[in-house]
Amino acid sequence: MVEERRRKTLPFIKTDQEIEQDEHHRIEEPPSISYHNDRGNQHQQRNSQSHSKHHHHHRHRQHHRPSHRPLALPHSPESLEPTGAADSVGSLTAGTDSPQQLNSDESDSNRATAEAMAARFHPPSHLRDEAETLKSHRHSVGFDVPGAVHTIITPNRMGVKADRPLDSKLAVIMVGLPARGKSYIVKKLRRYLNWLQYETRVFNVGNLRRVNEASQQHDQSANFFDPDNTDMKRIRDDLAIQVLDQMIDWLKQGGRVGVHDATNSTVERRKLLIDRLRKEPEIKVLILESVCTDKMVLERNFRLKLFGPDYKDRDPAEALLDFKSRVDNYERAYESVGDWEEEQDIQFCKLINVGKKVIAHNISGYLSGQCIFYLMNFNLAERQIFITRHGESMDNVTGRIGGDAPLSEKGRKYARALERFVSQQRASFAYDLASRKVKEEDDWRSYGLEPLDGKKESETIDTRTTQEKIDAKAKELSSGQFTVWTSMLKRSMATAANFDPDVYDIKHIRFLNEINSGMREGMSYEEIQRFYPEEFHTRQSNKLYYRYPGMGGESYIDVIHRLQSMIIELERMTQSCLIVTHRVVMRIILGYMLDWSQKEMPHMLVPIHTVYELRPKPYGTELKKWQYIESVDSFVEF
Ligand code: F6P
Repeated sequence: MVEERRRKTLPFIKTDQEIEQDEHHRIEEPPSISYHNDRGNQHQQRNSQSHSKHHHHHRHRQHHRPSHRPLALPHSPESLEPTGAADSVGSLTAGTDSPQQLNSDESDSNRATAEAMAARFHPPSHLRDEAETLKSHRHSVGFDVPGAVHTIITPNRMGVKADRPLDSKLAVIMVGLPARGKSYIVKKLRRYLNWLQYETRVFNVGNLRRVNEASQQHDQSANFFDPDNTDMKRIRDDLAIQVLDQMIDWLKQGGRVGVHDATNSTVERRKLLIDRLRKEPEIKVLILESVCTDKMVLERNFRLKLFGPDYKDRDPAEALLDFKSRVDNYERAYESVGDWEEEQDIQFCKLINVGKKVIAHNISGYLSGQCIFYLMNFNLAERQIFITRHGESMDNVTGRIGGDAPLSEKGRKYARALERFVSQQRASFAYDLASRKVKEEDDWRSYGLEPLDGKKESETIDTRTTQEKIDAKAKELSSGQFTVWTSMLKRSMATAANFDPDVYDIKHIRFLNEINSGMREGMSYEEIQRFYPEEFHTRQSNKLYYRYPGMGGESYIDVIHRLQSMIIELERMTQSCLIVTHRVVMRIILGYMLDWSQKEMPHMLVPIHTVYELRPKPYGTELKKWQYIESVDSFVEF
């Protein structure tokens, strides 16, 4: 079952070259792709360049971290190349913000700014130390958005150090009793931050416990978690510190956000972790506690554990008892985040009942604020998210990019078929969900466990047949709201024109418009390659950061930023929806939902006349794909 899920969530990866071979429509794609934006390279470079020298109280740590990177550069390996190399391509991409171009432009503007600042602010030598201390306090890493914000700094000049941190690093320490949804929260947070280009990794203590030699010598059942058993407690504390050390190493090597995923349920444990982190003044700390008081959600979470790595081969009823006694052990010693953290002035956030209630303390960093805003906006509703590109447009027929062309005849046919398809899928989803829920309740009963619908067996005598129960539930589910979003471009609005506004909640949204290709709007890839070969090559080698020249021209990163509010809205809403958009936007939304790496995302195959259906689940996103077959005027799964 797990394998089946994994298979379903695997991304459908193809390069643009493959698109050429098997795309059934007439859009021309550029040929060979090479990936230059390798984050591994970037890490190595960064690692060798940044070392912490000063140790200060953690509250001020972001102001003190020196950095030896000479200039504020974009988040790509090319950006770390020497200026000379950048100069050689700078002139070829006039008006663009390609990474190389940025390098050259930035170095010039940095140099000019530095000279002006040096002339105005260079203090006499006896005042320099004081002035430098003041300056380093004044600066904050603060607002730091990869690919969109460049911090201008003064380069080293005679005897005066201008070093200071350029990117923020964050250690998120999770807190919460078992089955409070911590792992679910951290997985989502990791996916979101990575999508925003903050490299994020989760460090799970349970995973180490399951393979660690010291803990393997002991029975891993509830006793191992007894707070009065000092030997076991020492083993668990050691594991937590080992994992924290791995996380710190990774952050120092270029990672941006590390998440320490464990119960960390006592002040003593948290003090251990915080004391270790205080030795790393360049890393900010955010404690994130997940609290769940909703009995039904808790019971559901407990039962999900039965399919997890600790219990999967054990008898369900017996495993549930063991797990509940493990939770009791933790509960006896549990100290919620609060007084101690406030005394220490630590940033923390308590998420209560899946974000229904949120308590935040001393949130001072941009990144921490982003995390909390995101976490306040998700829910666990089961739903369908359909996403498709618009039907074939007249520009697709002639192979031109951008523009605002109407649909072709084929495109209009697709639009009619799409409405029929979504309405059928909507009905069958309601039926499947209803059957699954009714069957799940029957399964719990067969394991000797109470149903999860809130009614005890003895209290309810349901005389309906299983089929009657399914039909009633399906009817209830299918009457729920369904949203249709399109971009504000003609081809996308026309693709959704057959949806009845009385049945669907339809919105045209500018954020969903296609990437703006600036001065290259209306050209074909062949023309760009012929007339602007260097520019064409620069984009192919770093599509993520390449910004089209001219007014309004965008990069993938720019589009990611304008889609941020769409992702938050997708997470916030509980109803199913259909998104009709364009190639770049579709790649980016799928990139978020399916956790595609930034390297592969701009090159994924997302042909027109295909529909992706996504179902958010606790363990990831389930994916189904359909292709429209014009000859039979219907969709087939592929
Ligand atoms: O060709 C269709 C299109 O949506 C263009 O409007 C857009 O510029 C292009 O695809 C984006 O794809 P890529 O990033 O692969 O060039």
